[in-house]
Formats: sequence, C-alpha cells, structure tokens
Amino acid sequence: MKETLNKIKAEALSALDDASCNIEEIRIKYLGKKGELTSVLRMMGQLSAEERPVMGQLANEVRAQIEEKIASMQELQKQKKLEEALVNEKIDVTIPGKKRTTGKLHPLNKVQREMEDIFIGMGFSIAEGPEVEYDYYNFQALNIPENHPARDTQDTFYITDNILLRSQTSPVQARVMEKQQPPIRIISPGRVYRSDEVDGSHSPLFHQLEGLVVDKGITMGDLRGMLETFAKTMFGEKTQIRFRPHHFPFTEPSAEVDVSCFVCGGKGCRLCKGEGWIEILGAGMVHPNVLRTCGIDPEVYSGFAFGMGIERITMCQYGIDDMRLLYENNVKFLEQF
Ligand code: DAH
Repeated sequence: MKETLNKIKAEALSALDDASCNIEEIRIKYLGKKGELTSVLRMMGQLSAEERPVMGQLANEVRAQIEEKIASMQELQKQKKLEEALVNEKIDVTIPGKKRTTGKLHPLNKVQREMEDIFIGMGFSIAEGPEVEYDYYNFQALNIPENHPARDTQDTFYITDNILLRSQTSPVQARVMEKQQPPIRIISPGRVYRSDEVDGSHSPLFHQLEGLVVDKGITMGDLRGMLETFAKTMFGEKTQIRFRPHHFPFTEPSAEVDVSCFVCGGKGCRLCKGEGWIEILGAGMVHPNVLRTCGIDPEVYSGFAFGMGIERITMCQYGIDDMRLLYENNVKFLEQF
C-alpha cells in the first residue's frame, strides 16, 4: 500500500508539473470520490492495527501534497491567463481613430431649399403635384392642345396616351387654380422629365421650381419686382434682371428673364460666355385661357407665373460646367459643397 500511495503521489505531482495541464481532470482522477487515492483509503480496513495509523498518515500527507500542488498550479494558470490577456487585449491609444464621415445635403437640395426659403419669405407657400401626370394638366389646361408645336420641345415619357411623366412643373399651376380661388401665391419645386439624351446640359430627369400668383390687379410690375428681389437675395445685392420677349403658350405676354452675371458683374466672362447676362427662367402673365379653363374669371383676376431650372441655378451658383456631375454621386465631387 505504501508503494501504491507513493506511486499515486509521484504520478499526480508529475501530471501537475505540466503548466498547461487540466487541473480539474487531475483532481478528479486522484482525489475525486472514485479517484485513485480514495480507493486506496477504502482498503485501509484490511490493514493491521499497527499499519493503519502509519498508512493513514501517509495517505493524508499524499493528499495534502497533491492539494497544495493543485492550489499552486491553479494560481500559476490564473496568472498566465491574465498575462496573456494583457498582451492580447492591449489597446494602443496612440493609433489614430477611425474617421466618421457625415453626409450632407446634395447641392441640388441645398439650392432648392435656399430658393424655397426666399419665396416663403415673400409669402409664398409650397404646393405639390404628381410626377406621373395627365396629358390634360401637363399640356391641355396650359393652353397647349394636341398637335401644338410647343409639345415638340417638351417631348416626354408616356405611360398611356394620356398619362405621362410631367415635362414641367407648370401643371401644378392648373391643379392649384382648379381647387382654389384667388388670392393664390404658391411655388412648386420638383422633378420633371423629358426624353432628352444625357449630355453636359441635358438630362431626362431634372428639377424645376414653378411659381404662381393670382389676385385682383396683379401686373407685370409685380412679377418684375418679385423676381428682382429673388435674384438679389439668391445671387447678391448688385444683381440686375432683364426681360426679353418670348413665347410660352400659357402666358401672355411672356418673357425670358436673365440675371446680370454675378461673376463678372456684366462685363463678360467664361460663366456668362461673354454675354454679361445669364438666362435663368421663363415667366409671364397667366394666359386668360388658362385662368378660364381652371375656373378663374380673367375679367376679375390676373396673375403671373414663372418657372426655373434648379440645375441651372445650382450650376451658376457653384460654377459647375457639366450637369452630369450632379447625378453621378461621386463623393469627391459632392464633398465640396
Ligand atoms: N414650364 C416652362 C418650361 O419648362 C417654364 C415656364 C415658363 C414656366 C413660363 C412658367 C412660365 O410658369 O410662366 O420651359
């Protein structure tokens, strides 16, 4: 029995010498209820009265030594784990942080909001209309009957014979007047569509901002004054505007409106292509036919309307020379605004 006890001790201690040993497994193997030392102790009863205390003492010593070794190994392994963790989970506080990039408004949205703010400041409210529109509102109600040549410049995408993607924001004029008697003072920004090839100044989808004022005694002087205020706020206090006669079927008289070039002040430069003026919008006095079609009496009321391209204003504002840049979603480009 003495040999067995010494053998158990030697085996257990050497097993525990391995720094990466499974301590719990060893404890169960030697000291557990069914462990080797326990089974030896069970045989004590067979020993003589003299042998028993001697073996008992030896067995206790063996147990104590193994337990002691277990405790010190546990401490050692704990320490090792901690050291490993300290190495592996080390945080290098000198590494530069990850940069979080924040998004911002697209230049088109930015300019659109600036424009909206200016008109809201002058008492306009915002009206919305559908992008999928009836031929009636996009053309007929605006004094552009079927086969009218004005349709050629506004060729668009047709869903059916009489449903199309609106080619201008002007149909919102008709929709508003149909529902509301004067006084009317609205702007309507939004997407419009035309079946144009993509190039530096054309896109099948672009944005316009429409304006409409109808009331008693509205004159072209009101239109001019309002547009001048808009131009000065948008492009700077020194900005001048000029009207050039033009034709739109839904206004009479009609005009194209230019602003003095805000880069060269009118002398002529690259932006204004040497003209000194930049065309920014179409406008005019609402045609009596349009008022009548929409249920407003042209004998009592008069009004003006205007429409401008948001891309065009954005490109002028920032000196962007190719419209495609606005749609390509190139972050390097967009970051600049
Ligand atoms: N809708 C016209 C276009 O897309 C622009 C326009 C011209 C709008 C004159 C108006 C206006 O309201 O009075 O070319």
